[in-house]
Amino acid sequence: MMKAVRVHRFGGPEVLTYEEVPRPTPAAGEVLVRVHAAAVNPPDWYRRVGYTNVPESMRPEPPLLPFIPGSDISGTVVAQGPDVTEWQEGDEVFGLVRFPSPNNGARAYAEYATAPAAHLARKPATVDHVRAAAVPMAGLTAYQFLFDHIGLAWDKKVLVNGAAGGVGHFAVQLAKTRRATVVGVASGRHKDFLHALGVDEFVDYTAGLALPTDVDVVVDTVGGPKAYELVPALKPGGVLMPVFFGDYRREEAPVTFLSGQVHSDGGQMAELARLIDAGQVTVGIDSTFPLAEAWKAHTRAEQGHIQGKIVLVVSHNS
Ligand SMILES: NC(=O)c1ccc[n+]([C@@H]2O[C@H](COP(=O)([O-])OP(=O)(O)OC[C@H]3O[C@@H](n4cnc5c(N)ncnc54)[C@H](OP(=O)(O)O)[C@@H]3O)[C@@H](O)[C@H]2O)c1
Repeated sequence: MMKAVRVHRFGGPEVLTYEEVPRPTPAAGEVLVRVHAAAVNPPDWYRRVGYTNVPESMRPEPPLLPFIPGSDISGTVVAQGPDVTEWQEGDEVFGLVRFPSPNNGARAYAEYATAPAAHLARKPATVDHVRAAAVPMAGLTAYQFLFDHIGLAWDKKVLVNGAAGGVGHFAVQLAKTRRATVVGVASGRHKDFLHALGVDEFVDYTAGLALPTDVDVVVDTVGGPKAYELVPALKPGGVLMPVFFGDYRREEAPVTFLSGQVHSDGGQMAELARLIDAGQVTVGIDSTFPLAEAWKAHTRAEQGHIQGKIVLVVSHNS
């Protein structure tokens, strides 16, 4: 048996129940990871509420109940399923596990989680498990949007909306690895944080959205009903990358839209680990909570204005 957090009915943070559940067994191609830390990501609470926040036309089937939320882990390999040659017991690994998958395949809010070997990479040596766990979904989203979807060229001007959040703060830093001039849009309290990450121009959206008009690429992690206000920041023919749903008034916008869904990728996790160990990417931590208090972490997530990532710490004391 092991301790885990499960959702038995859709609802607010209070439905996150800390309890004893069977310890999972790795299948072929999988390892069992003793989880030291697991990140909180927006899809965790979208699932917790049964996806009622997603526009109806795009709403996925709600997950089967009960389920263990979470997709991002950092921990130690403690067992291997058949056919696993990449990982040995004792290896320290991190990754975005089985994402996307219709029924929350990762089950990260737990003392132990199974993971396909190919979804993991060696944990960066220069950070602890809390910082490593903060990377997978947010880091891979930024990586896949900037490098897979558009193959960001050198020396472009990139605007990141929601720059201080999980995806945003990685997008800022990954754009800088291509020598981009980066405009960070966030509320005023994040100004110093974002300058420290390399942002060249800071826009406090709470003081009016005074945007430049010569941007090559916009990464919008916010979306929403006023998303179209970002369009004038782009040069004609620029690229707008919505990370979430938004009203961009696309028919009027003289720009290219490119989007996508983040997916597990151990090879890209290894590249993120390399950038972290090289000091080119740092990991912002908004707050940490014990696994048993996952409901407090979700309460924090719903308050918004996140700076970096929220992470659950798994103590293995019980
Ligand atoms: N397409 C995909 O595959 C994919 C993958 C990952 C995430 N997502 C989605 O991307 C979104 C962001 O995820 P995340 O993990 O980065 O969330 P997050 O950590 O909560 O960050 C959101 C950030 O946006 C800022 N913000 C809020 N309103 C703003 C506004 N009007 N203008 C500018 N900034 C604003 C917030 O702080 P301040 O307001 O204080 O600045 C916060 O720092 C979520 O909706 C998530 O579901 C999609």
